[in-house]
Amino acid sequence: MSDGRIDTERKHVTLASLAQQKASGEPIVMVTAYDFPSARIADEVAVDLVLVGDSAASVVLGYNSTVPVTVDELLMLTKAVRRGLTNALLVADLPFGSYEASDSDAVHTAQRFVKEGGADAVKIERGGTTTARARAIIEAGIPVMGHVGLTPQAATSLGGYKVQGKTADHAERLIHDALDLQAAGCFAIVVEAVPAPVTELLTSQLDCITIGIGAGSATDGQVLVWHDLLGITTGHLAKFVRTFADLHTETVRGLTAYTNAVHNRDFPASEHAYTINEDELNALRARFPSG
Ligand code: KIV
Repeated sequence: MSDGRIDTERKHVTLASLAQQKASGEPIVMVTAYDFPSARIADEVAVDLVLVGDSAASVVLGYNSTVPVTVDELLMLTKAVRRGLTNALLVADLPFGSYEASDSDAVHTAQRFVKEGGADAVKIERGGTTTARARAIIEAGIPVMGHVGLTPQAATSLGGYKVQGKTADHAERLIHDALDLQAAGCFAIVVEAVPAPVTELLTSQLDCITIGIGAGSATDGQVLVWHDLLGITTGHLAKFVRTFADLHTETVRGLTAYTNAVHNRDFPASEHAYTINEDELNALRARFPSG
């Protein structure tokens, strides 16, 4: 919408509607979500794409990287998000170790996320051999979103959680990875932690949808992690995160108020209690005379 209001009447997001949105220059909004109530809210505010990211590993499950999270863990979260989502396109991350070894692993895992999890599309990380996996999944009829730049599943071999494409050689490889993923048929590519001028060049070379995170403003859309943008995450935040709410403070405030109310016997109050018919109560009391 052009007047800044949120278009909550909007209908179902599809690959075709996303392509139209890109063509019309309307920015695409993507957010991660990992449960039913969050998915409901994402739909309520007419987000375009919801990603069940493997970032769930750290922000929901408490692992110290995305590497340990399993297919079954992400599938459970994907199913919950599916139950909450009506309009946004649901993308599920394939976790580390579930798609890299062979095309058949990749197709099998992607099929589980679509068939059991209810995802509309899957996302896989890196270029290189991932390009062949993307092609295989797409040939099996499942839309794929690529992911280049900082790909957290490969953080160790990338030398940590660092900005990618800072030399001409590295940036060229990154752009070629994105072009290869597009040639394989990816409908969209996430570009993470890449210098803004490199992203500008990259997007000028690509026709498919680009979604940025820490990649400047040249992409067709942006994605942020739910817990980061809403201020649930505490401690270190990446430079590219803007915090749009402070749910940590608000949650601490509410939980402290509840704790105090229980300690003070201020909660529950009479309006929170159920009643019983007076005759039934008297009959009951008569059975427990000393009570
Ligand atoms: O797992 C995730 O949340 C992601 C986004 C940051 C793109 O991959």
